[in-house]
Formats: sequence, C-alpha cells, structure tokens
Amino acid sequence: MTLPSEVCENNLMDSRVPRSMELYRRAGERIAGKTHLFGRRAELQALGVSPIYSDRQKDGHIYDVDGHDYVDFNMGAGAVFLGHAYPPVVEAVQQQAARGTGLTINHPLELEAADVLHEIVPCAEMVRFCKGGGEADMIAIRIARAATGRSKVLFCGYHGWHDWYIAANLTAGTPLDSHLLPGITPLGVPKELAGTTIPFEYNNLASLEAALEANSGEVACVILEAARSFQPQPGYLEGVRDLTHRHGALLIFDEVVTGFRFARGGAQEYYGVVPDLATFAKCISNGFALGAVCGKREVMSVATESFISSVYWAEATGLAAGKATLEIYRDQDICQAVWQFGESFMRQCGQLIEQTGVPMKLAGLPCSPLLALEGVAPEHRDALITLYMQETAKRGLVGGPSHFFCYTHTEADLRCALRAIGGAFLLIRRALDEGDIVKHLECPVRQSGFRRMV
Ligand SMILES: Cc1ncc(COP(=O)(O)O)c(C=O)c1O
Repeated sequence: MTLPSEVCENNLMDSRVPRSMELYRRAGERIAGKTHLFGRRAELQALGVSPIYSDRQKDGHIYDVDGHDYVDFNMGAGAVFLGHAYPPVVEAVQQQAARGTGLTINHPLELEAADVLHEIVPCAEMVRFCKGGGEADMIAIRIARAATGRSKVLFCGYHGWHDWYIAANLTAGTPLDSHLLPGITPLGVPKELAGTTIPFEYNNLASLEAALEANSGEVACVILEAARSFQPQPGYLEGVRDLTHRHGALLIFDEVVTGFRFARGGAQEYYGVVPDLATFAKCISNGFALGAVCGKREVMSVATESFISSVYWAEATGLAAGKATLEIYRDQDICQAVWQFGESFMRQCGQLIEQTGVPMKLAGLPCSPLLALEGVAPEHRDALITLYMQETAKRGLVGGPSHFFCYTHTEADLRCALRAIGGAFLLIRRALDEGDIVKHLECPVRQSGFRRMV
C-alpha cells in the first residue's frame, strides 16, 4: 500500500489537489507538527483527494487552493455557526480593527460582551475571556483548584492540549485512548502530575462515584461535556451534579462545542442542569478568536486572588466578534433554523442509508449529527471512512462522519451534500459486496482520528 509520505512526494501531479499537496509538503519542512490543529492533518483525510488548504470561505462553503468549491459540513470544527464571513460579524470586526485592538488599558467591550453572555447563559454570573477552548478549560481548572484548595480533576471526554489534561496519560493504561485518541504520549508533560487527572465513564454514575470515593477530599472538580454524540440517560447529569457536590467538588461543563448550538444557553439550558463553571469558545464568536469561562459568582471571584492573566485575552476584535455574534443569538432563533436543517439532513440521509444498506446509523442531535459505522470490523473502519471521505470530496462535500451545520446552509447545499453522500454510499455498498474496500481507494487509508467517548 502507498505510504502517506510517498503520495505527498511522488504523486503530486496525479493528485486531485496538487497545490494543496505542495503546500502540505512545504509545511512538513516549515511548520512544526505540520498543522496547528490536529484534526486538520491531511493524513486523517483521503490524502491526495481531500482538500488540505483553503484560502476563501463564504456562508456554508469553502474554496480550496486548487479551485474546487465544497459544501462545508465541518464549519471550522464547529466554530462557525452563522456561516463563514457572516456580514454583521465581519463588519463589527472591521470597525473595531480600524479603532484599535485595545491592549494598553481595559476596553468597555469586555463588559458589553460579558453582559450578553450573562443574559444568555444560565450559570454566567461572572465571565472571564480568553482566546480558545483549551485555554478556557485551563482557566476553569485553575479557578476550581483555587476555590477548593484541592488538586485532582476527574474528567470525561476531550478538553484540549494543556498539561493538566494530557497528564491523564502519565498513568498506566493510557486513559486518553478512549477519551481522545489512541497513541497520545505525555511527552513534555511533567511526570510529577501523574495521578492528578483521572478519567470516568460517560453515562455511568457508578464510575464517577468510584473515582470520587477513591480520591475522597482531593477532587477539585469534575469536567465533562454534558453530551456530544450520545445523549445522557435520564437523571445522569443531575446525578453527576449531586455526586460532585456531595464530595465537595465543583462541576464544570465544557461547552466549547455544545455552547449556543444545543440551545441558545448551551447544554446547561437544553438539559436543565446548571454547572458551577462552564467553558465556551468556537460558536461564541463565529470563527474569530475568543473563549470564555462563565460561572457562579462565589466560585469565579477567586480569579482575583489567583494569577490568571494574558495580554490578548481581551483583544478587542475578538470581543467585537463575540459581542456581535452573541447579540444575534440573543435576538434571533438561530438554533431553531439550524436544527430544522439538521432534521432534514438526518431524515434524508437516513433514507439513503436504508436504500443502500450501508452499515451506518445517525447519532446525536440534529445540530451536529454523527454518521456512525455499525457492525464494521475495527480493521476495516478507517478504510471505509477513507472511501467515504474520498467519494464525498470528489463530489464537492467536506465534513463528516461528524457534521456541523450553520445558519447560512441552504436547501441547495443540502441537495448537493445528499447527492455526494448518496454517491459515496453506492460505491461503499459495491466495495462491501465485493469484499474489497481498499481496491476502490485512490489514496492511502487514513490514520485514525478522534475517538471521543461522549
Ligand atoms: C469539547 C472541547 N473542549 C475543548 C476543545 C479545545 O478547544 P480549542 O481547540 O479552541 O483549544 C475542543 C476542541 O475541539 C473541544 O471539542
């Protein structure tokens, strides 16, 4: 089988995306780690077929450097909820950029953006801004440790790249294999952090209770996404909240993905369970750099005593984007429109699954459904996903198997995407019937991607 590096170096001219491939080859020489987001590594897609670089995005589309136009069902890993380059947000950023970025003294936008968050998000009595999701999680963990005087963190799911989180893999059994992805080494994370970050299993209260009891009196906080692709069992989130509080710890919802997408007030509004702290990024500013920690006053107040500080956190173009975006969420029912689009997608994609008999099912909520493989042997999974990515890319669709929709996706986008998916399903059906998936690949089998257990 062709190795990814061979495709990159030898088959440039054969590639469907030669300019992307050339840029990626150069990135291997100049950009440490090749890409700035793990999920954008080309080896996770259909290498040589999927687009790798895009220098223009608009509404529900991206345009790659090789001149192809795609319906975008990834939407910046879920960061863009209104649509790429959404005019009111772009104008707010342009106007603010022309007035300065506000780094010498404090900017009134800090309060204006925080006030809108307070209006929308149930737990947001106080707010602290930053620039991204992992950073927001790090700040929330610091605040929880400062407020409780304890060190240990119990977690479920993915929460960024910082030491506190990757430290989980300093413990035998590499727990991140089932929360993030297999093979993450804690290289560069101080070994002294071993045992400070402990996993528990989603939708299993006994697993959380056991971890809380085994570390009684030492747990500062419990952090999880309220839901992702699987729904919480009835009473689960209430149980997590009550157990956490009974053990004197704080509950943090990571709302980096669920925020403003599950409901205007995030998963905490959708499920009716209010955490002590919640972290936001992505949809908060529709593609510009902003993150936030929100929480109850008595907890958030300790931020005054702990040293939590950075020049760029209140940088004014990010805040302008955040304020403009949040005001749109406050004043218009964006969720309802996106959910309706998602329901249409799920219904029609479900029909395609039935008609073609591919071993897949749709999971998750209509705002961000997952096309999950069903009954496929582990050794065939990546080949099958690669074939799906290859065939959908060739037909003008990026995104999937997990999907993020936006407010400016149109009926025409949906039709185009379903045509692409239908075409991919037909070829997958044929490959499965022939018992040979790899035969139909025009690229190497992709490397395994995220495996979030939420
Ligand atoms: C649930 C969750 N938390 C945290 C993060 C990290 O956010 P960022 O990449 O902005 O640091 C992500 C990113 O995908 C996420 O999905």
